[in-house]
Amino acid sequence: MDLSEIKKALTLDELEEIRVKLLGKKGIITQKFKELKNLAPEERKRVAKELNELKERATTLILQKKKELEEKLLEEKLKLEKIDVTLFNPKPTGAIHPITDTMNKIIDFFTRLNFSVETGPLVEDDFHNFEALNLPKYHPARDMQDTFYFNDGNLLRTHTSPVQIRTMLSQKPPIRMISPGAVFRRDYDLTHTPMFHQVEGLVVDKKEKVSFANLKFILESFLVHMFGDVKVRFRPSFFPFTEPSAEVDISCIFCKGEGCRVCSYTGWLEVLGCGVVDPNVFKAVGYNDVSGYAFGLGVERFAMLLNKINDLRIMYEGDIRLMEQLK
Ligand code: DAH
Repeated sequence: MDLSEIKKALTLDELEEIRVKLLGKKGIITQKFKELKNLAPEERKRVAKELNELKERATTLILQKKKELEEKLLEEKLKLEKIDVTLFNPKPTGAIHPITDTMNKIIDFFTRLNFSVETGPLVEDDFHNFEALNLPKYHPARDMQDTFYFNDGNLLRTHTSPVQIRTMLSQKPPIRMISPGAVFRRDYDLTHTPMFHQVEGLVVDKKEKVSFANLKFILESFLVHMFGDVKVRFRPSFFPFTEPSAEVDISCIFCKGEGCRVCSYTGWLEVLGCGVVDPNVFKAVGYNDVSGYAFGLGVERFAMLLNKINDLRIMYEGDIRLMEQLK
């Protein structure tokens, strides 16, 4: 029997037709098996053997052809669905992460005012993270920051303030810097994650060149840059590394200062800490006859306010649909 038509099949459908014609219930080969019973025993044996061989050959050829056609089909499909990743897509998916976006806005403001951007290690030692910032061992203010410690006594930095110390130790005054970056604390709830971001700022210069008024002006301009038309107020506070210290509030951007749930009906939102650098900090880095001011802020807090998000944790779940909404 001629099996060459199997090889000539051009499509999987065509091949299936041939298979049915040969091996289906009413197929030619199947039919021949049925006719065996009409033959004489000797003849039957011989023909049965031939038929079995034929069936096997046909089956093998069909399977081979099937594989060949399937591969061809896949190849064509791949060719058709090929994506040119170099093609320009005017509507990219995804978006800049709100934390990155907010961070960029902050950095942009300060670099335009000639602040340098400094960085430091995430794994810090006690000296840079605490001691040199006027936070001696057993000082109660260390409780303000729930620290992750390593067995060797090192720690994950709890704020970006250690970069102040590193910068002053490696550079001479005047200094005008910010240090953006990740920090870590043992905290987890609606508004806290164990890893978050801060931007620290430090200005050091001759005594007559820096003042609290100067600090106030810079921070007021900064907060208007970030939040638009807001009122800014300074409240006395405490930080070990600054004296005097202040916390900075903006008028609530949700109720315009009228009082709402977000601002706990106070009309104000706390956004920054700041102050005049404590002399003990200068002593730790060996600076004399200078004055300075510093400030620190949480980037997540800014990003939440700017994007009107009330659960910080969604920022780290990586849901692209959410990020697209925040574009
Ligand atoms: N390091 C402080 C914190 O993590 C933030 C801060 C407050 C930094 C006041 C400063 C400052 O430089 O002057 O809570």
